[in-house]
Amino acid sequence: MAEQRPIVTEKQSDVAIVRITRPEVLNALNLATRKALAATFTELQDDPEVRCIVLTGDEKAFAAGADLKEMVDADAVEIAKRRTERYWQAIARTPQPVIAAVQGYALGGGLELAMICDIIVAGENAQLGQPEVRVGIMPGAGGTQRLTRAVGKFHAMRLCLTGRPISGREAYEIGLVSLVVPDDEVMATALKLASDIARLPPLAVTSIKEAILQGENASLDAGLALERKAFQLLFASEDRREGMNAFIEKRKPQFKGK
Ligand code: HXC
Repeated sequence: MAEQRPIVTEKQSDVAIVRITRPEVLNALNLATRKALAATFTELQDDPEVRCIVLTGDEKAFAAGADLKEMVDADAVEIAKRRTERYWQAIARTPQPVIAAVQGYALGGGLELAMICDIIVAGENAQLGQPEVRVGIMPGAGGTQRLTRAVGKFHAMRLCLTGRPISGREAYEIGLVSLVVPDDEVMATALKLASDIARLPPLAVTSIKEAILQGENASLDAGLALERKAFQLLFASEDRREGMNAFIEKRKPQFKGK
């Protein structure tokens, strides 16, 4: 029997929902799934109607990591030749904000995938971790880098060196997720955030995302310069004139994305 599509995309007005659909293996990320994710995000980048994206799995798992059955017999050359980083780059380069809605397991490559997103909403009982060390490898797509930038050296060391997962609640306490909510409210919370963001002027939204992400990799001075230039450039947009005038005239703004 042919395997069902590894991801499903649905649009709810100006929000796209991308769902990983391999429940039989807790949404383990095989190559087909990663390729489908990359293709979907590449397509969504060019869809002017999509203002925000929610990436999710199901109630048992966001994703339980790279598919170990696809890795068990691979040698180092084969792993390098797969160049799987290109699939993640397609997601990382998406200009619209991406919200990860995490219930259940977000482990290994699954947590790395969530960390590529811009906002993470987690259920209280989600399980987030970098268990790679337990199968003789290490994080390979951001688990030692994005995680350390997010939570600092000491929490990152604990997570990566023990492989032990933490709950959504603890992830929130250490700054690994943006919000923690009861498990059955994860999707509704993520969708509400997404529709709030989707209503805001898109040029400002994408400029903010770009400044935060680029600034993370730059010196403070370079980041501040980049921020200042992006701020100045927004004064060329119709939406900022509309936003300010609407405030002064005490009416609701009508943003056009121009
Ligand atoms: C392939 C997986 C999988 C995975 C679960 N499954 N995780 N298959 N790769 N990463 C499959 C199981 O084999 C099983 O299928 C089914 O999903 C249900 O899993 P169970 O183990 O029976 O469920 P449970 O006992 O509830 O345990 C859940 C779990 C455990 C704790 C999440 O499945 C687990 O430890 N999974 C591996 C997690 C992991 O190590 N992830 C990191 C991978 S390395 P069958 O057919 O057997 O019933 C990685 C590197 C990224 O991510 C590098 C990026 C470049």
